[in-house]
Amino acid sequence: MPEKTENNRRLVVVSNRVADFKAKFQTGGLAVALGDALKASKGLWFGWSGDTRDDALSVPPHVEHVAGLTVATIDLTDKEAEGYYFGYANRCLWPALHYRLDLAQSNEEQSEIYFQVNARFADALMPLITPDDIIWVNDYHLIPLAEELRGRGCEARIGFFLHTPFPSPEIFAAVPSQKRLGNALMVYDVVGFQTTSDRDNFRRYVTASLDGEQLQGDRVTAQGETTLASVFPIGIDVEHFKKLADEEDTKGPLLPDVGSDMKTIIGVDRLDYTKGLPERLRAFEVLLEQFPEHHGKVRLVQIAPPTREGLPVYQEIRENVERLVGRINGRFGDLSWQPVIYMHRGVAQHILVHLFRRSDVGFVTPLHDGMNLVAKEYIAAQAAQDPGVLVLSRFAGAAEQLREALLINPHDIQETARALDRALTMPRQERWARHNRLWQRIETYDLFNWRDSFIQSFAESDTNPVNLFPKEAGAA
Ligand code: G6P
Repeated sequence: MPEKTENNRRLVVVSNRVADFKAKFQTGGLAVALGDALKASKGLWFGWSGDTRDDALSVPPHVEHVAGLTVATIDLTDKEAEGYYFGYANRCLWPALHYRLDLAQSNEEQSEIYFQVNARFADALMPLITPDDIIWVNDYHLIPLAEELRGRGCEARIGFFLHTPFPSPEIFAAVPSQKRLGNALMVYDVVGFQTTSDRDNFRRYVTASLDGEQLQGDRVTAQGETTLASVFPIGIDVEHFKKLADEEDTKGPLLPDVGSDMKTIIGVDRLDYTKGLPERLRAFEVLLEQFPEHHGKVRLVQIAPPTREGLPVYQEIRENVERLVGRINGRFGDLSWQPVIYMHRGVAQHILVHLFRRSDVGFVTPLHDGMNLVAKEYIAAQAAQDPGVLVLSRFAGAAEQLREALLINPHDIQETARALDRALTMPRQERWARHNRLWQRIETYDLFNWRDSFIQSFAESDTNPVNLFPKEAGAA
């Protein structure tokens, strides 16, 4: 039987992938954020194991109690993984949600499999949940899940949070099967977005493509369904990062010791074409071209863990990035100075925090991004009295909140290079003033604020008030 809190409310999180709590380290804010949130309510995390097997259709979910929560996973067949994850979700929806219709490919078989896998998720989840649970569905892989659960008689409250951008309605309307997706979103009690512009895009889409209407507050209605479409900017566990950074500050050098004159620019991203990595490298190259005073005095550390390597477009972006790294190092480097230090693998969180703390500039340049937690992690890791500078793309969701960063258009390589120069030479007083405001913002809108406000938005009902988080429970 599902474990329950004292007044019967338990959080059930559903996402494509569950975090591997036994792994040495995890990449991606989503895994860390949801894992922390679940521990507080002894909840259930349900998702795909990431594995495939021929007999997946007849194997029950694998249920495990680990690190203070329950993790249940199902395997997929190769055909399912290909159609659902590599197919419709990541070949079509991911690029379209990030304004890359040019990369969005789909065929009917793949979109059908996507909807079928969502039905399979619902079949496997139903026996594990009760009507009192609060079900939180995450991201573009699982848009049809609430509709499937309702079709099986599920009465629990169900909310959906989109971690990616929701593009302008003209873009979303071009996605194959978009109406099925739009109608499926309307079934949720709440649909959460990262930014006001994502929410407004969705509202315009409901009106334009689903013949819907905007109601009072954030409510929208279409096709006989009414949902709350609201903004919940995801945050980080600020105190945790600050504590890690303070501890790390006392340890020895991590990067090659090349003298105190050397400044470090840090970038950390999954190696995804949405992250603007070629644009970032080109801007760094232009910095070296146009501001020779930085030669031998600055290095770019780029950590780029692999992701979705089965898709050719990810192989192409890797080749492109590695070619640029080689070009810059060959063109400007010498025996004592390597301008770009590049790693194509993830690193442990405490090492990342250490790198953030020791870096003069946090460099975050996505062409589009739901939020971008790296921007917030960089701020959290800075020393208050002598902080570094965040150079941030206007097209990251985080830019709506982090207005005191140096905001850039990543497509404008010259503007970005000038921003880098400005960041590298910014006087301490200005760095401090900007950092102070940024810090306040990430502290107010932190992980717990995000979690609690999202859950409150759909979990409350007159007969069964929500109390998922006993006073002493903070995220681990
Ligand atoms: C993005 C998505 C997440 C996803 C993560 C890693 O942040 O919004 O839903 O989990 O990328 O993607 P992957 O395909 O490697 O699981």
